Amino acid sequence: MKALLTGGAGYIGSHTAVAMLEAGHEVAVVDNYYNSSEEAIRRVEKITGKSVSMYEADVADKSKMKEILAGEMPDCIIHFAGLKAVGESVEKPVEYYRNNIDTTLTLLECMKELGLGNIVFSSSATVYGEDNIPPFTENMPKGSCTNPYGWTKWMQEQILTDAQKASAGDASGGSAGLSVVLLRYFNPVGAHESGLIGEDPKGIPNNLMPYISQVAVGRRDHLTVFGNDYDTPDGTCRRDYIHVMDLAEGHVKAAEYCAAHKGTEVINLGTGEPYSVLDMVKAFGEACGKPVKYEIGPRRAGDVQDSWADADKAKELLGWKASRGIREICRDAWKWQSSNPEGYGK
Ligand code: NAD
Ligand code: UFG
Repeated sequence: MKALLTGGAGYIGSHTAVAMLEAGHEVAVVDNYYNSSEEAIRRVEKITGKSVSMYEADVADKSKMKEILAGEMPDCIIHFAGLKAVGESVEKPVEYYRNNIDTTLTLLECMKELGLGNIVFSSSATVYGEDNIPPFTENMPKGSCTNPYGWTKWMQEQILTDAQKASAGDASGGSAGLSVVLLRYFNPVGAHESGLIGEDPKGIPNNLMPYISQVAVGRRDHLTVFGNDYDTPDGTCRRDYIHVMDLAEGHVKAAEYCAAHKGTEVINLGTGEPYSVLDMVKAFGEACGKPVKYEIGPRRAGDVQDSWADADKAKELLGWKASRGIREICRDAWKWQSSNPEGYGK
């Protein structure tokens, strides 16, 4: 199939591009490089020995998107493009709602006008909110989000679900019978085994694994662990850390499923295994051959204590299951970080 990846130059998109190409699919990417670099796509081509059709555009620019989609006519769109920093979304809510919602609405309008039917969307475990108890299953009611970023995911899920529902009863052509797959990611981490592509956050990392990597490579002095007084075995929060190449391979299966079915499916992409912050610090220290320096600090506002997936639905519906553990995650994150200490910048 031919897949068009919005935000495909970003962290998860670039790894998914590799997995799609390796599975024999064609890939086109649309990105405005707001949080990424064209270099990521050049490296995807280097890893796979295959070429990617690359378009620099804002996905919310309807006339440009329609032109690109009309030229490509993809069998499936995988919609990664979006702003994703939780803390920044609290300070700039309007920018987050504008960018994340507009990109989705624009895609749906273009799809209807061009008769394109299949879309896979990057959602997040954040939509389970604070009150559900893990492991999270897809049929739990969505919860209340703790920040505007989370609400944009919540709302985009709703918009896509409603559009699909309406399209099922629309026999007038256009997007009659949309197929929507909403993927709820847990905590994507790690890098491609080659060390050629990986996560390259701009500025001070917000997330645990890039922060640990930058401490290990000497770019930052130490990690602050946000709280060790939670009701968990070592007092630190637990998460479902999933290797980004497992996640990428999950997208291949999801896109294939999406193109072959109608309706809306919500699917968790996680491992089902929780690890604490201190577990990850220890595993990274073992991977890089020296302990990662850390200090215990106060809790971070908005953090949930525990989050992990029930991963059964992905296995049953897609035949997909994560196969890499935290050793591989830390090994590959370290390979990427140590061979690209400044990310794609140098
Ligand atoms: P990323 O920032 O690396 O990638 C997103 C890409 O989208 C970037 O290349 C950025 O330049 C591009 N982009 C943003 N707005 C755009 C626009 N209007 N037009 C064109 N391009 C645009 O982030 P990522 O970690 O690869 O995340 C991909 C998707 O997965 C996002 O939607 C994110 O919210 C979601 N997600 C990520 C995580 C995570 O922990 N990384 C967890 C859950 C969900
Ligand atoms: N943490 C630290 N120190 C740091 C960074 C993180 O101790 O410097 C801890 C956090 O408190 C948390 C764990 O490491 O306990 C993981 O934190 P991340 O920021 O890496 O990930 P989150 O689980 O908070 O966030 C992720 C995604 C978001 C998504 C959210 C909720 O990055 O996109 O899950 O599902 F919204």
